[in-house]
Amino acid sequence: PFPDFVKIVEVGPRDGLQNEKQIVSTHDKIELINRLANTGLSVVESTSFVSPKWVPQMADCKEVMAGIIAVPGVSYPSLTPNLQGFQAALKAGAKEVSVFAAASETFSKRNINATIDESLARYKDVCQQAKDNGIRVRGYVSTVLGCPYEGRISLDKVVEVSKRLHDYGCYEISLGDTIGIGTPGATFKMLSAVSQEIPMSAIAVHFHDTYGQALANILTALQFGVNVVDSSVGGLGGCPYAKGASGNVATEDVLYMMKDLGIETNVDLEKILDISCWVSTILHKTPSSKVSLALSHK
Ligand code: HMG
Ligand code: MG
Repeated sequence: PFPDFVKIVEVGPRDGLQNEKQIVSTHDKIELINRLANTGLSVVESTSFVSPKWVPQMADCKEVMAGIIAVPGVSYPSLTPNLQGFQAALKAGAKEVSVFAAASETFSKRNINATIDESLARYKDVCQQAKDNGIRVRGYVSTVLGCPYEGRISLDKVVEVSKRLHDYGCYEISLGDTIGIGTPGATFKMLSAVSQEIPMSAIAVHFHDTYGQALANILTALQFGVNVVDSSVGGLGGCPYAKGASGNVATEDVLYMMKDLGIETNVDLEKILDISCWVSTILHKTPSSKVSLALSHK
């Protein structure tokens, strides 16, 4: 049995663009977000309030936020690694932010220059301040199926970090296969462990497609009862602190599969395909998604 409805969290403007070497203009980023928000998506992750020294592509986070033409019913979360980022997001008018922890110590240090415990202490403060200001917080856990530096990751750590973020008040925990190394078997085991401690309704999955396993992993997650899936238009993406990680699973590929399964998403596949083509031109690339490639050859 599959869920009747799946919420798609579009992460292209953030996860998709953060790894692009060439700086995309603020104008194009805003246009990407505004186009995506008119496809029926209810969440468009828009930018990151992180250090521009660490992720230069996100240096225009304030300007991007200011340029969004908010569509009623659409949420535009941004990443905040600490209180400084949270304050900046708040000032920029954010109504929702995301904190991002990891299940691997080495990845945590490389990505946010903090141990897992240090990062969780920061996120506890961010969650408290968010609560005081009526801001929703989403929590990411990276490297849930493997780490570029440490290899295998203990499921106990994945569960512990997920549970702590949930306890701090994150309404949703997005489980990230940062380097796209996982398989359906590993996905099943990981979800079995995490769902012991966190309600299914609060679990989201976030797959990168490095090894071509993302759709299979998503299918496994859907069968498990997960009903929130992160994806990126055109399959853009990667993590600057995870060498070799390819893009997120493409939104159009996810939609194509779900349509056939009779799963409602409210997202217009045709419009997503148009955006996929458009953004690929902006980035001087061909879309990496299979569905875009298939349809462009018709
Ligand atoms: P740090 O160097 O330890 O920071 O970096 P610090 O607190 O020591 O401060 C040093 C400087 O950074 C200071 O400026 C601060 O003002 C500034 P200076 O005095 O030198 O001019 N600073 C900031 N500036 C802007 N915004 C901020 C901020 N905080 C401090 N929020 C820090 C620590 C966390 C800031 C840094 O490591 C960082 O920004 N990391 C972000 C990395 C990142 O964005 N990675 C990609 C997202 S995670 C991902 O992609 C995975 C995911 O998709 C899920 C999955 O796939 O698994 C979510
Ligand atoms: Mg990611």
